[in-house]
Amino acid sequence: MQTTASNIQYGNFVFRLLVIFAMMSSTAAASAPPMPGERLGGDTSIRSDHHSAFSLPAANMPLQRRLDFSVGNSFFRNPWVTAPSSTTARDGLGPLLNTNACQNCHIKDGRGHPPEPELANRVSMLVRLSIPPDSDGRDQELLRRLGNVPEPTYGLQLQDFAVTNLAPEGRVQVSYREQPVTLSDGAQVMLRQPTLTILDTNYGPLHPQVQLSARVAPPMIGLGLLAALDAAHIVAREDPNDADGDGISGRANRVWDLSGGLTVLGRFGWKAGQPSLPQQNAAAFVNDMGITSRLLPDEDCPVSAATCQASSGGAPELAAQIQEQVDFYTANLAVPVRRNIDDPKVQAGWNVFVDSGCAACHTPTWTTGNSFHEWLSQQTIHPFTDLLLHDMGPGLDDGRGEFLASGSEWRTPPLWGIGLTETVTGHTFFLHDGRARNLLEAILWHGGEADASQQAVRQLTADKREALLAFLNSL
Ligand code: HEC
Ligand code: HEC
Repeated sequence: MQTTASNIQYGNFVFRLLVIFAMMSSTAAASAPPMPGERLGGDTSIRSDHHSAFSLPAANMPLQRRLDFSVGNSFFRNPWVTAPSSTTARDGLGPLLNTNACQNCHIKDGRGHPPEPELANRVSMLVRLSIPPDSDGRDQELLRRLGNVPEPTYGLQLQDFAVTNLAPEGRVQVSYREQPVTLSDGAQVMLRQPTLTILDTNYGPLHPQVQLSARVAPPMIGLGLLAALDAAHIVAREDPNDADGDGISGRANRVWDLSGGLTVLGRFGWKAGQPSLPQQNAAAFVNDMGITSRLLPDEDCPVSAATCQASSGGAPELAAQIQEQVDFYTANLAVPVRRNIDDPKVQAGWNVFVDSGCAACHTPTWTTGNSFHEWLSQQTIHPFTDLLLHDMGPGLDDGRGEFLASGSEWRTPPLWGIGLTETVTGHTFFLHDGRARNLLEAILWHGGEADASQQAVRQLTADKREALLAFLNSL
């Protein structure tokens, strides 16, 4: 008996030694896998670092599809008008809406931002609404199909604009409370915590338990490649009970697919609440611009606004062919190549990225499966996302779930192209509600499953911190 016990102790001692050696070697730069090269989007990557870098088609897209791409682009970029009009192809706007063109939010095919006094564009953020489900299970069907229980008067989204003769639903105000964070080298960073208020509710008061979620528009690049990832590969990375004990327990969202009439993997949106580009786009048309489609034939109207209700029903406002061209466009916006990859600082930043555990969620490398856009198939890509939901802690909790996602769970966003944000969109607001004013603030908001990563960044020397940011800016 005694021998066994001392063997265990001896084994334990050897094990600890091994752990110490492993930790020592992991701090050496040699431990990081090779840094991804410059072509983040595989053969689709394009070479551009100017303000239209997010608006170009996949490099390997067949030439004869250029026309579809540019027609799709025009319906994404140009304003829609109210019906009836002389340009029936792009009418049907409203009656309630957030804005009249996709690109007003997806600025130059890049990301939106919260309302900021110094930025002219005010409309690139939206606010989702819902109420908690009934405890008696009555809302199960709504949860299964919509992922949420709509706010009884205003539906699932606040439309802060309307066509003439109709009042908008309300107005969004964001205020911030600043809180300091001190890094281990003494540097201080201010983080701002947003509070949302809905003013001028024109159709009656909001439900007392209303849940609000502010979202800025994400960038549009590389989405066809993410759509082409095999669902089985994404699901294989789930670790809901943290079986491997690394503190990270990603799980996939599972959402309602309207065309198939079944629950499938969620991929798009900040909480992965949409299964596919066609459904995501149809949702954008109806919720953000008031344009109905075959997939989503009903306006998101307040029950009390009869004029709004009356405009729904009848033929879908979005012609099927136009939706197809917009779908094609959104699947084929190219990811620009990296910059400065030979800079030693960028290389050092990659090592910091790996050592800080960032790659556990921001998965660097994938191979796409088969896409019906065959040029997107079998590409080695570097999106830096696992497309899974992670609990990001109380700081990022918006108190509003979506299908399986809780208030604090968010889908890891891709990081490709992130270093071109300012060049393309003229701002550097990050995270789902744009609260972070730069990349460092975005990292310092990481909590929950990403808390260890965030703590590691706080402990970095100024040099290593700069290197990490140089790496992110090279993406
Ligand atoms: C009012 C601002 C706004 C407008 C207008 C808008 N979007 Fe978006 N878009 C968003 C937001 C916010 C999200 C993230 C939604 C979420 O988290 O569920 C998004 C997400 C998307 C995504 C998924 C991107 C990703 O990385 O997951 C696509 C595709 C998209 N929108 C297409 C469109 C199209 C097409 C139009 C025009 C018909 C459009 N959007 C109009 C704000 C907007
Ligand atoms: C546990 C998973 C996880 C880890 C680990 C993690 N992240 Fe994130 N990251 C996320 C999620 C989820 C978000 C989105 C949070 C939100 O918008 O509220 C995010 C957002 C970001 C953003 C902003 C992206 C955007 O489009 O606005 C950056 C930049 C970022 N992470 C970098 C890092 C770096 C650098 C590290 C390592 C120090 C890291 N992340 C570690 C999951 C993770």
